[in-house]
Amino acid sequence: MKLHPLWQEYPALQPELRQTLTLMEDSIKLKNKPVAAAILSMIHSGGKLLRPAYQLLFSQFGPEQDRKKAVSLAASIEMLHTATLVHDDIVDQADLRRGLQTIRSEFGNAVAVYAGDFLFVCCFKLMADYASSLRSLQINSRSMEKILNGELGQMDTRYATDVTIAEYLENISGKTAELFSLSCSVGALESGTSERFAKECGDIGQNIGMAFQIIDDILDYSENVTTIGKPVLEDVRQGVYSLPLLLALQKAPQKFLPLLEKRATITDAEVETLYAYVHEFGGVAAAKAYATEYTDKALKGIKKLPNNDLNTKKTLLQLTQTILDRKN
Ligand code: IPE
Ligand code: IPE
Ligand code: MG
Ligand code: MG
Repeated sequence: MKLHPLWQEYPALQPELRQTLTLMEDSIKLKNKPVAAAILSMIHSGGKLLRPAYQLLFSQFGPEQDRKKAVSLAASIEMLHTATLVHDDIVDQADLRRGLQTIRSEFGNAVAVYAGDFLFVCCFKLMADYASSLRSLQINSRSMEKILNGELGQMDTRYATDVTIAEYLENISGKTAELFSLSCSVGALESGTSERFAKECGDIGQNIGMAFQIIDDILDYSENVTTIGKPVLEDVRQGVYSLPLLLALQKAPQKFLPLLEKRATITDAEVETLYAYVHEFGGVAAAKAYATEYTDKALKGIKKLPNNDLNTKKTLLQLTQTILDRKN
């Protein structure tokens, strides 16, 4: 199974990431052909597998090295992530993901809703089969609640020009950082570390996830669709005002407000003007500074982790820095 090129630099991680994908594929046993086909096409569409990778890496810290269990839980987390993407694309009416047509655009909303539902079911089935206690299921369902609240918070503030930086950060903390946090904490906990250690891992994951989403929001203001595999400037059109825009808006409200007030009726030319303003008033650079700050916090946390034979710390440092510098 082909992995995202990102993993070429991490040969030691490749076998378990491949096993993760194979297990995901094997879990899709469904009579309904369109839903099964939709899910399989998504599994094979070349996602970065960042959350399972972090989960696998953090599972190297505990005394219990059951790799089959670690891979199963990594697959469970990626299923959860995939489910949120399938449903997110319905809500965002997105046509493109990972450079390919989205499930909702290729198969329609009904198939996409059920495909997402089935992926949630698979996530919990795998977790229930392999987690050593109810604790992980408890943590997992709380995380899902936080992800949902982040998405709802974002929906509630659509087209709002007075959304604060704090509100933005709270929403991305739920919708994205929570899943990174979960990957790291459950990875550690299920390998037999203490709850306290797992919580520290979760805090590192939270910072990684914040940086990751801010970079994702910056990429929405990058030049073209081919590099990032999803349309650019999509957030503004959908009324999702993310960090680069919010920071630039603070600098020059008089430039932005007349355009933003047009909401969904904004024209392509006006979106281009907004794009230029976001860059001109330093929104992208200032947002990058936020992402760097979260990454630095994560790196600081990683440096405090114990050393082990697999040199997990070094891999975590490299991967976390790569996420900050990513171009897609
Ligand atoms: C996309 O996440 C959703 C966000 C939280 C921004 P990824 O960029 O990790 O998605 P894939 O799985 O690699 O496509
Ligand atoms: C990602 O949100 C979906 C979740 C985290 C649930 P976005 O809508 O910001 O991400 P993309 O741009 O579609 O990947
Ligand atoms: Mg969204
Ligand atoms: Mg989206």
